[in-house]
Amino acid sequence: MKIETKAVHSGDRKKLPDSVPVTTPINTATTYLYEKTEDLDRIFAREQAGFCYSRYDNPTNAALEELVTDLEGGAGALACASGMAALQFAIQAALTDRRKKILAANALYGASVSLLMNVFAPLDVEIRWVDICDLEAVRAATAEFQPGCVLMESVSNPLLRVGPMDEVARIVSAARAALVVDNTFATPMLVRPLEQGAHLVVHSLTKYLAGHGDVLGGVIVSDAAHIETLRALSRACGPVLGPFESYLAMRGIKTFPLRMERQCANAVRVASWLREHPGVGRVHFPADPAHPDAATIERLFTPGLYGAMVSFDLRNGSRESVFRFMDALRLVVRGTSLGDVHTMVLYPVMSSHREISPKQRERMGIRDSLIRLSVGIEAAEDIVADLEQALG
Ligand SMILES: Cc1ncc(COP(=O)(O)O)c(C=O)c1O
Repeated sequence: MKIETKAVHSGDRKKLPDSVPVTTPINTATTYLYEKTEDLDRIFAREQAGFCYSRYDNPTNAALEELVTDLEGGAGALACASGMAALQFAIQAALTDRRKKILAANALYGASVSLLMNVFAPLDVEIRWVDICDLEAVRAATAEFQPGCVLMESVSNPLLRVGPMDEVARIVSAARAALVVDNTFATPMLVRPLEQGAHLVVHSLTKYLAGHGDVLGGVIVSDAAHIETLRALSRACGPVLGPFESYLAMRGIKTFPLRMERQCANAVRVASWLREHPGVGRVHFPADPAHPDAATIERLFTPGLYGAMVSFDLRNGSRESVFRFMDALRLVVRGTSLGDVHTMVLYPVMSSHREISPKQRERMGIRDSLIRLSVGIEAAEDIVADLEQALG
């Protein structure tokens, strides 16, 4: 089945005693009881399917997890309270029984950098950075550093670089490490990391999958080797998503392929328009034939889909001119998120990469003039018209 069909049907239609609900209900019960205590005993022992306590499992979460597992082609999933919680638990699962060393792409979402530096490093996990687009550097760092886990984003935030995850996965697997890929920007419409050899895939559900700016959540989709570790970690620590959010995420995912197609098409139009504007400097967009990772994009991504994130520099832009541009926008929403139905603008220096020192930002190529757009599903001409009037 194609992803468009899975998005509509997977996870739903679990039988009730007398009927089948067409969509999964919100199951708020924390606790489940059975006629025979023996059944509950077997469910606790995981010898029998069933629910006992919502931190372990919940029918609404289970339906969402089945759906996302299908979209990413995994062995199982864990729905978490946020994308960051998902990332933390994916890394913990990867490091269980492995060397406590993380080799991380040097272009990551700011909070992911903080997670490594402020949560894992103080626990004596060693962190090393690498240019994930430079295979020779990845090979050398893996051989020398011997990581237990390698972390990358399928499309980096905010410069939209695309690392060769298939080749990285081969290097990582040969070194008996685990590859964790944050697939939030690309989504399974563009690329499915597990099919490319990754071991664990993370999403901020908050973004494209849920898509309407009303759910905070995350999900880890795992290969067969890590799913039990992940479930055991979850039972012990309880990072789970609430059933209301699970329901909303499932509802959002039904239209995710439709939205994503439209958003990708709009992004192509917006990026081409920006490239021609005299007030705009560099435009970062994966459809650009001159993109530094064009060959990888061509090899890995679904033809014709390049994502709906566009980053660009204001020509000779400064913090003040970026603020002026953002304040002048009337339709585009100034908001710290992405992937929603509405077009959003974000200033990485102020928000997603605020915690990163100016020196490190400079090294990452994130300048004071850089603006990140998440293109929505509105009419492309309306988005362009708003950008045009704001650029002046
Ligand atoms: C690439 C990426 N990963 C993870 C996250 C974290 O997700 P959440 O805000 O749901 O915790 C974000 C949030 O912006 C993100 O952009």
